[in-house]
Amino acid sequence: MKPPSAHARRGCIPWNGLLLAVSLVTFWNLPTTVQLTIESVPFNAAEGTDVLLLVHNVTGDLLGYSWYRGERVENNQLIATFRIDVSTNVTGPAHSGRETIYPNGSLLFQTVTQDDTGYYTLLATRNDLQTERLAGQLRVYPVLPKPVITSNNSNPKELEDTVVLTCGPETPNTSHVWWINNQSLPNSTRLELSEDNRTLTLFHVTRNDTGPYMCETRNPVSVSRSDPFTLNVIYPVAQPSIEASNTTVTEHENTVVLTCRTNDTGISICWFFNGQRLLLTERMKLSPDNSTLTINPVRREDAGDYQCEVSNPGNSRKSDPLRLDVKFDSTQGSSSGLSGGAIAGIVIAVLAGIALTKALVYFLYLRKTAGASDQRDLMEHKSSDHNQSEGHSDNSPNKIDEVAYSALNFNAQESKKPTSASPSATETVYSEVKNK
Ligand SMILES: *[C@@H]1O[C@H](CO)[C@@H](O)[C@H](O)[C@H]1NC(C)=O
Ligand SMILES: *[C@@H]1O[C@H](CO)[C@@H](O)[C@H](O)[C@H]1NC(C)=O
Ligand SMILES: *[C@@H]1O[C@H](CO)[C@@H](O)[C@H](O)[C@H]1NC(C)=O
Ligand SMILES: *[C@@H]1O[C@H](CO)[C@@H](O)[C@H](O)[C@H]1NC(C)=O
Ligand SMILES: *[C@@H]1O[C@H](CO)[C@@H](O)[C@H](O)[C@H]1NC(C)=O
Ligand SMILES: *[C@@H]1O[C@H](CO)[C@@H](O)[C@H](O)[C@H]1NC(C)=O
Ligand SMILES: *[C@@H]1O[C@H](CO)[C@@H](O)[C@H](O)[C@H]1NC(C)=O
Ligand SMILES: *[C@@H]1O[C@H](CO)[C@@H](O)[C@H](O)[C@H]1NC(C)=O
Ligand SMILES: *[C@@H]1O[C@H](CO)[C@@H](O)[C@H](O)[C@H]1NC(C)=O
Ligand SMILES: *[C@@H]1O[C@H](CO)[C@@H](O)[C@H](O)[C@H]1NC(C)=O
Ligand SMILES: *[C@@H]1O[C@H](CO)[C@@H](O)[C@H](O)[C@H]1NC(C)=O
Ligand SMILES: *[C@@H]1O[C@H](CO)[C@@H](O)[C@H](O)[C@H]1NC(C)=O
Repeated sequence: MKPPSAHARRGCIPWNGLLLAVSLVTFWNLPTTVQLTIESVPFNAAEGTDVLLLVHNVTGDLLGYSWYRGERVENNQLIATFRIDVSTNVTGPAHSGRETIYPNGSLLFQTVTQDDTGYYTLLATRNDLQTERLAGQLRVYPVLPKPVITSNNSNPKELEDTVVLTCGPETPNTSHVWWINNQSLPNSTRLELSEDNRTLTLFHVTRNDTGPYMCETRNPVSVSRSDPFTLNVIYPVAQPSIEASNTTVTEHENTVVLTCRTNDTGISICWFFNGQRLLLTERMKLSPDNSTLTINPVRREDAGDYQCEVSNPGNSRKSDPLRLDVKFDSTQGSSSGLSGGAIAGIVIAVLAGIALTKALVYFLYLRKTAGASDQRDLMEHKSSDHNQSEGHSDNSPNKIDEVAYSALNFNAQESKKPTSASPSATETVYSEVKNK
C-alpha cells in the first residue's frame, strides 16, 4: 500500500492563539533532521470503527500540537491542542466529542462517520516557536448492505422487450460486478453496462437470458453479494407430444406409461382426458414433474384421448390427442371388477334369499292361523282316520300331502325354528294341505 497522502509545509503559521500569543519569527533555514509524517490507522476505515492519525518522527523540543479540520489552519476549525510543558489539552470549536489528542501528537477518532472523511492538519510548535504544518487524510467508508437486483420489467417478452437490471441501493464510492449463471458477463452485443456498472441492460431478451443474475458491490472496507435474481422471460412454448408404452392394451393385464415430451424448460405439465382435466384414480400415478403418467392396471374406462399441456408463466400448449384403446372380454363384467362367476353367484344367492323369505313369511302366516284352527284340525284328523278306516283307498291326495310336508319342514328348519317345538305346526300344515 502507498503511504498515506500527507504533505508537510513549513512557514509563517502562527502558534495557536489559545495557548500562546506570540509573534512568529520565520526561519527559512530549518533543521533537516525534522521529518514529521502522519499515518492513518487503519488506512481505510469502516464506518463506526476507531481511527488513529499517528504522528511519526517527532524530534527536537516541542511546545505542543494542534489539530485542525480541513487543510488550513483556522481557529474555528481547531479540534484540540496539547501543550507538552504543562501536559494539558484544550478542545477547540471543531471538537465533536469523539476526538482525543495524545502527548505524542496522535489524534484518535472514535466511531467515525462518513462525514469524518477528509483532510486534517497538524500544527507542531517548537520551543523556538518555529512551526511545522502537516496534513493527513481520513477515509471512512460504509459497510455495504446486501445489494438487491431489480428489473424494470418483471415479465419481459422474448425478442421484444429490453430489460434494465439495477443493483441497488446506490452507495457512493462503490464498484459493481455482475454475474450470469455464476460466470462473468459474456461478450455480447445485447448486454450493456452503465458507466458505473450499476445497471445492466439486456436488449431484446431471450429465454436464454433467464439467469440467475448476481451483482456484487465492493468498497475498500466491504464486499457484498446479492441473492440470485431470475428473469421471467415469456415465450411461446413449443407444442409437446405424447409417447405411450403401448396404445392398444388389454384390460386388467397391461400397464400403460404415457410420457409428455417437451424440450422446454421451466414449464409445468398437466394432463387431459377426452378434453377434460384428467382426474387421477388410485390406479394412476404421475412422476414428480408430471411428465409421466402411469396407469396400472389399465381398465376399459381408461380408453380415450389423452393430451398433455405444458405451460410457463406466459403461455401454454397442448399436445395432439393420443388415443388409447383397451381390449376387454365382452362376456365379462364391467368395471365393478367382479368375474362372471361371482356375479352369477350373487344373483343366485339373492334369488335364494327371496325364496327363503317368502317361504318363511308363508310359514309364519300358517303358524299364526294354526292355533285358531287346532280344534278343527283334530276333528278333521279324526274324520280323515275315519275315512281311511272306512276303506277310502284314494292314494293320490296322500302323495301330494307328503311332498308338501317335507318341503315345508325343510323351510321351517332353515328359518331356525326348532322342529321339535312345532310338531303340531307341521302336522297342521300337513292337514291344511291335505284339506285342499
Ligand atoms: C522518519 O524520518 C526518517 C528520516 O527523514 C525517514 O527515513 C523515516 O522514513 C521516517 N519514518 C517514518 C515512519 O515516516
Ligand atoms: C484531555 O485530557 C483528558 C484527561 O487526560 C482526557 O480525558 C480527554 O479525553 C482529553 N481531551 C482531548 C480532546 O484529548
Ligand atoms: C501515541 O500515543 C498513542 C496513545 O498512547 C499510541 O497509541 C500511539 O501508538 C502513539 N504514537 C506513536 C507514533 O507511537
Ligand atoms: C426498461 O428500460 C428499457 C431501457 O430504458 C426500456 O426500453 C423499457 O421500455 C423499460 N421497460 C419498462 C417495462 O419500463
Ligand atoms: C467518494 O466519492 C466522492 C465522489 O463521488 C468523493 O468526493 C469522496 O471523497 C469519495 N469518498 C471516499 C471515502 O473515497
Ligand atoms: C456459484 O459459485 C459459488 C461460488 O463462487 C458456488 O458456491 C456455487 O455452488 C455456484 N453455483 C452454481 C450453480 O454453480
Ligand atoms: C468482445 O467482442 C469484441 C468485438 O467482437 C472484441 O473486440 C473484444 O475483444 C471481445 N472481448 C472479449 C473479452 O472477448
Ligand atoms: C466496470 O466493469 C468493467 C469490467 O466489467 C471494469 O473494467 C470497469 O473498470 C468497471 N467500471 C467501473 C466504473 O467500476
Ligand atoms: C438459447 O440457447 C440455445 C443454446 O445455446 C440456442 O440453441 C437457442 O437458439 C437459444 N435461444 C434463443 C431464443 O436465443
Ligand atoms: C401392447 O399390448 C398388446 C395387448 O396386451 C400386446 O399384444 C402387445 O404385444 C403390446 N405391444 C407392445 C409393443 O408391448
Ligand atoms: C426436441 O428437440 C429434438 C432435437 O432438437 C427434436 O428432434 C424433437 O422433436 C424436439 N421435441 C419436441 C417435443 O419439441
Ligand atoms: C402436477 O399436476 C398437478 C395437477 O394435476 C399440479 O397441481 C401440480 O402443480 C403439477 N406439478 C408440477 C411439478 O407441474
